[in-house]
Amino acid sequence: MKTKIINENEKNVVEEAVKCITQNELVAIPTETVYGLGGNGLSDEACKKIFEAKNRPSDNPLILHISEIYELYRLVEEVPEKVRKALEYYWPGPLTIILKKSDIIPKTVTCGGDTVAIRMPKKEITRNIIRESKVPIAAPSANLSGRPSPTTAIDVYEDMKDKIPLIVDGGACNVGIESTVLDCTCEPNLILRPGFYSKEDLEIYFGSVEYDKSILKEGEIPKSPGQKYKHYAPKGFMEVILGNRYKVRDFFTEKAVELKGEKVALVTFEDNSDLADSFYKFYSLGNRDNLLQMASLIFRILRQCDDENITHIICEGVEEKNLGIGIMNRLKKSCGGNVKII
Ligand code: TXA
Ligand code: MG
Repeated sequence: MKTKIINENEKNVVEEAVKCITQNELVAIPTETVYGLGGNGLSDEACKKIFEAKNRPSDNPLILHISEIYELYRLVEEVPEKVRKALEYYWPGPLTIILKKSDIIPKTVTCGGDTVAIRMPKKEITRNIIRESKVPIAAPSANLSGRPSPTTAIDVYEDMKDKIPLIVDGGACNVGIESTVLDCTCEPNLILRPGFYSKEDLEIYFGSVEYDKSILKEGEIPKSPGQKYKHYAPKGFMEVILGNRYKVRDFFTEKAVELKGEKVALVTFEDNSDLADSFYKFYSLGNRDNLLQMASLIFRILRQCDDENITHIICEGVEEKNLGIGIMNRLKKSCGGNVKII
């Protein structure tokens, strides 16, 4: 099957995408977080195709994407009053909620579980596609399982070429890491996957919220199936360095000497850009005070490292606070827990 990429501003984008969805074919859709691999969320056939195209483990459930809050009601058993009010504030946006599922959700979406994950993305074109499809769109990140999530249409093409008929190109995703997943079936509500919204952000409308134990502590078993897999792993060896920025810089300088001549990529903030010449490749994470920028760059950089056949990635980490928790969660998974604190 030939994969077509069509720009979000072209005339028949919505029609073409809707045609795919109604025929139970897959279409990659842009969102503010990462690109999704979308299919009819009420069709077993379409959802099975999603698992196949990604080579996704069969026990990792999908997120259903909706275009308006009212569409939530037929997908879940009940929406608690607190959640209803909170969603008016956080949706559309990078937040996925977990509630008890209704009877119309296919088993393939939930992997047989009795809860379902739902999110309303911000990107207008994608919400138009969902609205016109008249079904929720099931969409995991549009990468092959285990690879960094795609934040551009080209990233999606790399992984999904010849496997799906259509990619809607909506430009680079501005958040760059996946949505925060919040389990609303327990009290206090539990963050199963950290993302753009931190605990503090969510507590404004959800009241007391906690992180699943596995997020801040190693060795705990995560409550969300997706969190237990080694994720986002680049091909090369990767280490994440965390600590006082001047000590970290000294460490980089030592490494430059030690690994001279090897295909090493240094991934750090712009203020270390004078070290670029000492490494095979240098990738800037932008300004160190701008974690939003860092989040939006990480996955793209990891993919570039693969394209450049980098064998050793040295990446600067950040303090685990607010958005830094989501960023470090992705970096820790990428490097398989290989974090050095200096
Ligand atoms: O930002 C995002 O959320 C992106 C865009 C495309 O919307 N999607 C995304 O989907 O990241 P995916 O499939 O890569 O991650 C979904 C996460 C997984 O960790 C999965 O285990 C969890 O949500 N999840 C889905 N349904 C669940 C459920 N019923 N209970 C607990 N965790 C669930
Ligand atoms: Mg994913």
